[in-house]
Amino acid sequence: MDYAQRLENVAVLGAAGKMGSGIVLLVAVEMADLGLKPENKGKKYVLHAVDVSHAALSGLMKYMREQARKTAEKRIVALRAVYADRPDLVENRDIIEQYVCDVLDVIRPVTVLEAACEANVIFEAVSEDVELKARLLTRVAADNPRRPWVFTNTSSVPIEEIDAKARLGGRIMGFHFYNPPAVQKLVELIRGRTTLPEVAEFAQALTKSLRKTVVPSSDTAGFIGNGHFMRDLLHAIAEAERLSREMPFVEAVYAVNRVSQDFLVRPMGIFQLADYVGLDVCQCILRVMDPRLPGQNLRSPLIDRLLGLGVRGGQNHDGSQKDGFLRYERGKPAGVYDPEGKRYVPISEFQATADAKLGPLPEPALAWKAAVRHPAREKVLADFFGKLETLRTPGAELARRYGARSREIGLGLVRDGVAAKAEDVNTVLLTGFFHAYGPINDYFSEKVAR
Ligand SMILES: NC(=O)c1ccc[n+]([C@@H]2O[C@H](COP(=O)([O-])OP(=O)(O)OC[C@H]3O[C@@H](n4cnc5c(N)ncnc54)[C@H](O)[C@@H]3O)[C@@H](O)[C@H]2O)c1
Repeated sequence: MDYAQRLENVAVLGAAGKMGSGIVLLVAVEMADLGLKPENKGKKYVLHAVDVSHAALSGLMKYMREQARKTAEKRIVALRAVYADRPDLVENRDIIEQYVCDVLDVIRPVTVLEAACEANVIFEAVSEDVELKARLLTRVAADNPRRPWVFTNTSSVPIEEIDAKARLGGRIMGFHFYNPPAVQKLVELIRGRTTLPEVAEFAQALTKSLRKTVVPSSDTAGFIGNGHFMRDLLHAIAEAERLSREMPFVEAVYAVNRVSQDFLVRPMGIFQLADYVGLDVCQCILRVMDPRLPGQNLRSPLIDRLLGLGVRGGQNHDGSQKDGFLRYERGKPAGVYDPEGKRYVPISEFQATADAKLGPLPEPALAWKAAVRHPAREKVLADFFGKLETLRTPGAELARRYGARSREIGLGLVRDGVAAKAEDVNTVLLTGFFHAYGPINDYFSEKVAR
């Protein structure tokens, strides 16, 4: 079975979720494009979009219609050539309508899991629960005579473990899209020790066709992306807890969040990022990583406590940010949660005091947006961090410790073989997390004082 034949029948499990819906979009467009090639005329391409609720699936179809239209609008010149044999399609809007129909025609929304049994390729994007993933995959793929190939979007669970639990005999690979899959360029590909070579070859071909930036990760819980992010977050929590011995907890969280954004020139502060991802998701990933990587203490009693108090973060349906470590007003942090008082304390109440304690930024300050757009990005970053090195303020000290810890985490991922090389760690942080520079750099070299 070649690439195009394999994609004739596909299933996406968890199709209506955040990741599943993006995967459906990418794969349905790829399938529709294959179906429009002259050599594939007459072949039927079918994608079973499997999820648990009809309502969620009808939302998915609405999303697909909008996104397929946007795709068609962007590719109108190429689509004119694709539909050159259709004299009935005259105006651009005729071509766009036809393409939307061709993409939607591929997708079959279903709540019956067994529909996936017909697929040659299964993308799995259900919740991050190894037992759930294994149970569903066993039902649709284990003893299936079609011997489908499974691509799991797990953020943290070792592929070999899912393989063994779902009895797939190596017909599985980690295909870790970043959120949102249709926009984010990065895909981490994770080959388990048992993954069959033909499965890995197909994954490479698909990422190439989707024009993704691929970084291979070893099959270690958390892989590269969460391997860095979770340890980075745990460092931030430890720093906030240390600082809270000499200042109120809310000020300490604010200070670490501000340092990780403004002093480290990152797109957002670390606690804002944790809220964006969702504290429940962070907890879930840590619970996968901690027992599988013994001796590293990858746990956060603070996150457990906040979740116990109903503080979750994550996104509302309209994409707006839910409150987590921080409270948001028009998408901007406006308060910090105090677990003792069980309330959000407005940042305006302590911001001036906390900023004064941190001290000034190096001059001139360098915002993340300005850094990433700067034609001499490396030079302006080197200048900025060179000045940070000379400042003897609590803010600069926190930033140096933070940058050094981030570097140490990156080097650890290479040392432990999770990443094949430093450049892979940097690519994941640059592409998947939009950092302006990779964690393995010459800006921060001192050891982290513990
Ligand atoms: N959200 C992210 O930023 C992100 C990034 C990379 C990878 N991931 C991973 O992708 C996967 C999905 O995450 P998500 O954020 O899209 O979660 P989500 O909660 O948005 O979506 C999960 C979907 O699975 C569906 N589902 C649950 N049980 C099911 C069942 N029995 N049968 C069919 N569908 C079922 C749910 O209804 C839901 O639509 C997880 O493994 C997660 O770790 C998430």
